[in-house]
Amino acid sequence: MTDSNAPSGPTPYEQFGGHEFFVRLVHAFYVRVAVDPVMRPMYPDQDLGPAEDRLRLFLEQYWGGPTTYSDERGHPRLRMRHADFAIDAVAREHWLAHMHDALLEQGLPQEDAVTLWNYFVGAAHAMQNIPDELPPGATPVAQS
Ligand code: HEM
Repeated sequence: MTDSNAPSGPTPYEQFGGHEFFVRLVHAFYVRVAVDPVMRPMYPDQDLGPAEDRLRLFLEQYWGGPTTYSDERGHPRLRMRHADFAIDAVAREHWLAHMHDALLEQGLPQEDAVTLWNYFVGAAHAMQNIPDELPPGATPVAQS
């Protein structure tokens, strides 16, 4: 039996290092986006600061931190919010490469880094909205 009154362990948000960790991670990511020839032109605004804040707030909420993202922006609906951006496999891999480097730079214990990395790989694939090119002769599978 689990006792619902028993103190539960730290949230992943706390485990990773709380607000300071997410500030550092997302900043390290955006430093790279700012000079990326594929990604930088996708961002509508000159100032990447607000986009940096949105990603950080989303991630903090996702991992059990404050719910400021949804308080300010409503339900995440991330796929829908990316629909205006042409995200192909190249853009996806650029995004992931920057997040990979930003994550490594944080020096998290390996288990935590792997947890985050697996999440980012899945999320980035989910955000892709231009399918991979099919090999010659392959038949496209109908999208439902
Ligand atoms: C796969 C490659 C991806 C590309 C090329 C991409 C690109 C973009 C762009 C251009 C924006 C608009 C910037 C802005 O907010 O002003 C954006 C917003 C955002 N992205 Fe991505 N993104 C990708 C993957 C992801 C992933 C994997 C996540 C989450 C783990 C994510 C989370 C967000 C969030 C939270 C916003 C702000 C949404 C809002 O509240 O308006 N993105 N992204």
